[in-house]
Amino acid sequence: MSTDENRHEKDESHVYDGIVEHDNELPLWWQLTLYGAVAFAFFYWFGHRLGAIATPGQVYAVEVSAQRAADAERARARGAVDDATLATLGRDPATLAQGKQVFTTTCAPCHRADGGGVIGPNLTDAYWLHGSKPTDIFANVRDGVPAKGMPTWGPQLGVERVEDVVAYVLSIRNTNVPGGKPPQGELE
Ligand code: HEC
Repeated sequence: MSTDENRHEKDESHVYDGIVEHDNELPLWWQLTLYGAVAFAFFYWFGHRLGAIATPGQVYAVEVSAQRAADAERARARGAVDDATLATLGRDPATLAQGKQVFTTTCAPCHRADGGGVIGPNLTDAYWLHGSKPTDIFANVRDGVPAKGMPTWGPQLGVERVEDVVAYVLSIRNTNVPGGKPPQGELE
């Protein structure tokens, strides 16, 4: 069967500006792309509505957090506690969650649950008594300032949990929570 036989060159086909318009059957491949797209859209839409298909944003968020966890693990494995390591830990959601837990149980009595400060200074403003670099904060938490009422946490928490809580403190810097203690120290 030649393709021409598919064409029903009906009487009503007409000519306009020398172009002949026919009422041909649509090719099968064309119909398949159309109905295929309709079916795909239908399942995709319901997949999204029912949460069975992740949005590109969700996929991206999962990939980013996996990457940050891997970065954090590599940074810890390096062993050295430097600004880069602590900054990397400060971007890892799992480390931040652990750090927040330490903060809530250990630091909140003096620095308030949201870091706004009570006995201890506000950790969410841009003013620091002992420096705002990640390693400054790490040294501060590990060694404390016993004479001023900031305990020495290194021996009690161990390096890893000090790193966790410092990562958390880095993440709340400059968030300026409402009702925080007035600034102490230098603007950094
Ligand atoms: C018993 C109260 C108390 C507890 C508990 C406490 N701190 Fe402090 N913290 C202080 C005080 C007081 C200061 C201010 C020290 C000074 O004046 O030199 C301070 C200072 C700091 C600083 C330095 C702030 C700056 O401006 O440089 C950091 C960082 C800090 N604390 C983090 C923590 C973390 C993290 C924890 C929990 C592991 C914690 N603190 C637990 C009382 C406390």
